[in-house]
Amino acid sequence: MSGPAPRRILLDCDPGHDDAMAILLAAASPAVEFVAITTVAGNQTLEKTTLNARRVCSVAGIDDVPIAAGCDRPLVREPMQADDIHGESGLDGVDWPEPTVGLDPRHAVDVIAEAAIEGDGPLTIVAVGPLTNVATALARHPGIRERIDRISIMGGAIGLGNWSPSAEFNIIEDPEAAAAVLASGLPITLVPLEVTHRALATPAVLARIEALRGPVSDMSVALMRFFAETYERVFGFAAPAVHDPCAVAAVIDPTLVTTRHVNVEVDLESTLSLGRTVCDIHGITGRAPNADVGVDLDVDRFWDLMVQALATYSVARPEVPTP
Ligand code: BDR
Ligand code: CA
Repeated sequence: MSGPAPRRILLDCDPGHDDAMAILLAAASPAVEFVAITTVAGNQTLEKTTLNARRVCSVAGIDDVPIAAGCDRPLVREPMQADDIHGESGLDGVDWPEPTVGLDPRHAVDVIAEAAIEGDGPLTIVAVGPLTNVATALARHPGIRERIDRISIMGGAIGLGNWSPSAEFNIIEDPEAAAAVLASGLPITLVPLEVTHRALATPAVLARIEALRGPVSDMSVALMRFFAETYERVFGFAAPAVHDPCAVAAVIDPTLVTTRHVNVEVDLESTLSLGRTVCDIHGITGRAPNADVGVDLDVDRFWDLMVQALATYSVARPEVPTP
């Protein structure tokens, strides 16, 4: 008996160290049909995030998923880059070979619309960068709404932010886009920092990945080591939080992320709290719930899923004989 058809997913991203891990997870999972990667300005400029998506896919041999570049700046605000976290390239820590995977000539916004309309079955969008492309696609192509079954977003925080004391990077980078997506009426999973700060690439996790002994696991470990340094320096974390694959994992296996169905609004008005995702966990405001907000992660099963995914890329290298 055949199982359920794989869910069609499109990953909108701004690689980014953790975005790279999200790409690798999505491409390896038999539970999803990975229809496209779309890139957006965020952690770095659009040019750099797009090159980085091609770099990761080239090393991993992911050559059957189109990569299309999208919006190069937020809807209304000035762009900011997260050099302090991801480095000047957006993906520092690896000596990248020239990418072999090319670029789809279409604009990401058109790719999102076409992926929604053309495929068999609905599309799930996983958005792990600023929401500029997704908001633009929904505004320009309102007909795609009925073809999208869920948007799984890495973004926001119930409590403390990471770009300001109040706001998380993906939301504050383009708060108007985030507000538009949250107001879309579509089913939304919001995977905030409370969840992703549990997905720590600890030394024990890195040892499991390193033991896979292949070019993709080597790349992943090098990326996570660079990320570990910046997370230690900037946030004082003992291990880096691997945010973005959590939003992919929430689609592959929704039991990994515990959620609460609540109202979430983005603060677009204030100065100190601009970009804050105000999550009405206690139902105080009476505003209608619009998102399933992650409150917990099954950490062990998340890393099992991630390591299994990375293992699919590994070609065992022979042990180097000791003289
Ligand atoms: C988010 O911001 C980016 O730096 C990461 O790639 C992740 O998507 C975490 O706040
Ligand atoms: Ca990201």
